[in-house]
Amino acid sequence: MPEKLIIFPFGGNARETLLSIMAINRNERVWDVTGFIDDDPALHGKDCLGVKVLGGREILKRFPDSKILAVPGNAGIHLKRREIIESLGIDKKRFVTIIDPSAAVSPDAKVGCNTILMRNVFVSCGAVVGDHCVVLPNTVISHDSSVGDYCSIGSNVSISGFVVIGPMCYVGSGVSVRELISIGKGALIGLGANVISDIEEGVVAVGNPARGIRRAQI
Ligand SMILES: CC(C)(COP(=O)(O)OP(=O)(O)OC[C@H]1O[C@@H](n2cnc3c(N)ncnc32)[C@H](O)[C@@H]1OP(=O)(O)O)[C@@H](O)C(=O)NCCC(=O)NCCS
Repeated sequence: MPEKLIIFPFGGNARETLLSIMAINRNERVWDVTGFIDDDPALHGKDCLGVKVLGGREILKRFPDSKILAVPGNAGIHLKRREIIESLGIDKKRFVTIIDPSAAVSPDAKVGCNTILMRNVFVSCGAVVGDHCVVLPNTVISHDSSVGDYCSIGSNVSISGFVVIGPMCYVGSGVSVRELISIGKGALIGLGANVISDIEEGVVAVGNPARGIRRAQI
């Protein structure tokens, strides 16, 4: 029996997640996607691939049995990701983990709840991806590395072995991270950067080699 699933909000991450859910359902119908919800009334009634935006948060009460995937976010709001997800007031048990069938996860790796691994993601031996994370297509998280809770990891990112990425980080698409590096809580790594030295909490770093251009208060 497929389980009902509501996806929040109606952004790029959410619509791309729908592609992974459709791929999962092609093998066996696991998810019955009830619809999207979004805080912006202008989006209510819109649809993606036939799945509608049903309304705002009030919809969650109408479907108490429905599971939830909450995937807000872009580079502008990465520090608010936790607050936005918590503001839904969802019991942890209602959140799900979605792993695209083309992704490969080592049997000894861990992937948290309300986390989505998109197409062709590889999570290697002993690696950990926390709760409430989004990992976009073709990203490699190498052996013994960890990605903290509430992180957004872009597409085509290469994270080498023994890397530690703190919670609430945003790692832009095409970033490479050298082995044994630490990236502090809430850091943002810009598109295409090569990270070869540690990045401190809240720093926005860009370029090759990645260097901080500013710092946010965490
Ligand atoms: C890092 C980032 C957040 C900075 O955005 P911003 O605050 O608007 O910064 P600006 O565009 O004003 O750029 C500030 C400076 O950093 C440079 N810069 C910005 N992003 C850069 C990047 N990715 N690589 C190299 N330099 C970059 C700019 O050239 C500019 O330099 P200057 O001051 O010498 O002119 C943004 O450029 C970025 O990379 N976002 C991630 C995008 C991404 O991965 N998207 C995938 C989503 S699926």
